[in-house]
Amino acid sequence: MINKSSRIFLAGHRGMVGSAIYDLLKKRNYKNIITAERKSLDLRNQSKVEKFLKYKKPDAVIIAAAKVGGIYANNIYKANFIYDNLQIQNNLINGSFINGIRDLVFLGSSCIYPKNCKQPIKEKYLLSNYLEKTNDAYAIAKIAGIKLCESYNDQFKTNYKCLLPCNAYGPNDNYDEKDSHFLPALIRKIVFAMRKNENFITVWGNGKPKRELIYSYDIADAVIYFLNKNTKETMINIGTDDEKTIYDYAKYVMKFLKVNLKIKFINKNLNGTMRKKLDTSLASKYGWTAKTSIKKGLSITLSDFLQQTVLNKNNKIFNYKIDN
Ligand SMILES: NC(=O)c1ccc[n+]([C@@H]2O[C@H](COP(=O)([O-])OP(=O)(O)OC[C@H]3O[C@@H](n4cnc5c(N)ncnc54)[C@H](OP(=O)(O)O)[C@@H]3O)[C@@H](O)[C@H]2O)c1
Repeated sequence: MINKSSRIFLAGHRGMVGSAIYDLLKKRNYKNIITAERKSLDLRNQSKVEKFLKYKKPDAVIIAAAKVGGIYANNIYKANFIYDNLQIQNNLINGSFINGIRDLVFLGSSCIYPKNCKQPIKEKYLLSNYLEKTNDAYAIAKIAGIKLCESYNDQFKTNYKCLLPCNAYGPNDNYDEKDSHFLPALIRKIVFAMRKNENFITVWGNGKPKRELIYSYDIADAVIYFLNKNTKETMINIGTDDEKTIYDYAKYVMKFLKVNLKIKFINKNLNGTMRKKLDTSLASKYGWTAKTSIKKGLSITLSDFLQQTVLNKNNKIFNYKIDN
C-alpha cells in the first residue's frame, strides 16, 4: 500500500502507458515520483538497476518499461523481444525484492493467453493451450515475469501484482511504420493517405480479427488503484467492453476523420490471434472498471497525433515536440 508521500519508481515513464501513469500520479498529487531516462539507466543492466534501487530507495515500483511492438516487430525481432523483456523485468522484480520493496506492479498484456483460448479469457486460462506463434517470444517473457511475481508472493509474502491489459491506445503512442500496434498503424495510414490524396490504405491480415481496446489513462488508473489495494490474486485482467474487428476499427477511425477510403488487405493469413476478449470480472469484484469511452479516448488520441506530427519527404514522422 502507498500514500501520497511514498517514493514511487516508475520505470518506462516516457512510453505510452508510462507517460499516462506519470501524468495521473502527478494529477492525484503523488509527490515523490522517481524516473530515469534510458540513456542514464538501461534497465537491461542488472548491476546498474540494483545500484539505482539501493540508492533511490523507492517504497514501490511500477514496471511500465518493456520492449513493445505490433505483429511485424514481434515476429521479426523475437530475440530482442524475449531478451530485453526478460532482462528488464528480472532486474526490476528481483532488484526490488533484494532492496526490501514490498509493493510492485508489473504490466503484462492479453497476448500472454493461448491463441485458441476460451472466451472471455479468465486469468486461470494462462498456459491452458499453445501461444500465438507471431508473438510467442514476447509472451513467454511476460509469462516468466508473472511467474516471478507469483513466486516471490508465494515464497516471501511480497505484494507484487501483474495487471494484464487488452490492446491499449492513447497520446504518446508509437506510430512507427513497422513497430506500431494495429490502432496507431491504422491512424497513421489513414492520415497519411488523406495528406497524399490517396483513396485507399493497405492493412495486414483479412480485417476479421477482433480486438478489445483500452485507453492508456484507464490502465494508469488501474495501476494506481491496485497499488493501493490488497488482493489475493497476483494476476488481474484489465479490459473494457470496446471490442470490434480490425475492419470496423479502420472504418471507425475514418468516420472520425470524415473520410471513406478503400481498404486493401495484404498478407491475408497474418492475422495473429482471432479474438482475445478478457474476462474482467476479477477487477470488477475488487471495484475497478474502465471509464473512458472509445469515442472520447480516440478523439484525444487523434488530436494528439495530428498536433504532434508532420511528414518529412521520406514519409517519416517528425515529432514537433522533440524535433523542433
Ligand atoms: N501498447 C499496448 O497496446 C499495451 C497493451 C497491453 C499492455 N501493455 C504493456 O504496457 C507496458 C508499456 O507499454 P507501452 O505501449 O507504453 O510501450 P512503449 O510506449 O514502447 O514504452 C516502453 C517504455 O519502456 C522503456 N524502455 C524499453 N526498453 C528499455 C531499456 N532497456 N531501458 C530503459 N527503458 C526502456 C522505453 O524507454 P524509451 O522512452 O527510452 O524508449 C519506454 O519508455 C508494457 O509492459 C506492455 O506490455 C501495452
